[in-house]
Amino acid sequence: MVRRSQVTGCGSYLPARVMTNAQLAKTVDTSDDWIRQRTGIRERRVAEDGELTSDLGLKAAREALDMARLEAVDLDLIVCATSTPDETFPATATRIQAELGMTGGAAFDVQAVCTGFIYALAVADNFIRLGQARNALVIGAETFSRILDWTDRSTCVLFGDGAGAVVLEGVDCAGNSEASGVLSTHLYSDGRHHDALYVDGGPSSTGTVGHLRMEGREVFRHAVVRMVEAIGAALEANGLTPSDIDWLVPHQANLRIIEAMARRLNLPEDRVIVTVDRHANTSAASIPLALCEAVRDQRIRSGDLILMEAMGGGFTWGSALVRW
Ligand code: UT7
Repeated sequence: MVRRSQVTGCGSYLPARVMTNAQLAKTVDTSDDWIRQRTGIRERRVAEDGELTSDLGLKAAREALDMARLEAVDLDLIVCATSTPDETFPATATRIQAELGMTGGAAFDVQAVCTGFIYALAVADNFIRLGQARNALVIGAETFSRILDWTDRSTCVLFGDGAGAVVLEGVDCAGNSEASGVLSTHLYSDGRHHDALYVDGGPSSTGTVGHLRMEGREVFRHAVVRMVEAIGAALEANGLTPSDIDWLVPHQANLRIIEAMARRLNLPEDRVIVTVDRHANTSAASIPLALCEAVRDQRIRSGDLILMEAMGGGFTWGSALVRW
């Protein structure tokens, strides 16, 4: 028997305000056509003034706890993936902890930009496997609208705000790839690629929050190669092949990247969860948002094998395999 993390609940939240491509085209030199053709994005959500990352994360967390039939006091760990924390410190996770009414255990943030959810899942999964936590909440929550340069058409059309969360519970199981839970996580980074995707500010450098800067083509070039490597590692570690995958739940940055990944895996379109058209790129929130949508509409069912992958600033990248 081995200890494994089972996903017993998931939740998500999107701010109410919708911003369409046509609305954006009124303020920057872009078009609905260009954005759709190059990215697949039709619209994104934007948080209201005063609506913070922790507010989004809290709503997703409550929904995930409800589905898991757990109370906040049952949790002993919160890991929140975000690159847009409410404040420089304390961690956004501790604000969510306080709002939930969880007074014990530990809460902290993980920062791996668009790979943040995979990183946070890996951290929580390892706490559970080692017996240091029993019930963990993993959140991906972002308000990227706050770090965008709204005059830069090459970046401001690509991102959106949102949050998703999952509850992990430690269970003892046979430990093979048929038993439900997180089968494996694989994390990577290569800091030499800083300049391709970063925020030009921060407490220690400029004393300002800064704006997102990206060499889109450079990121695109690395994305598919890196994610294919991470997926290969995940499948090999579990003695599985692409044909075993029931659902690809990819990071939602660009429909062209998602389609390229599906082609490499020989997965038909209807086995890939796509939300980028309505959410745009919500960074660490994109995978749990997509996952929850597919769980709620019952595409993902008990026993399905789910592959998650992401790549983002750093560069960071990684994969996770979960038996639902
Ligand atoms: O989640 C983190 C990871 N991030 C990603 O995975 C993003 C990866 N990169 C991408 O998704 C794509 O590179 C972008 C969507 C960012 C850009 O698409 P692209 O096909 O690589 O376009 P490009 O950057 O090569 O730009 C093509 C043209 C340029 O004009 P010229 O030089 O050909 O005259 C740009 O100036 O499109 C122009 N352009 C735009 N035109 C209209 C750039 N942004 C826009 C825009 N509207 N919003």
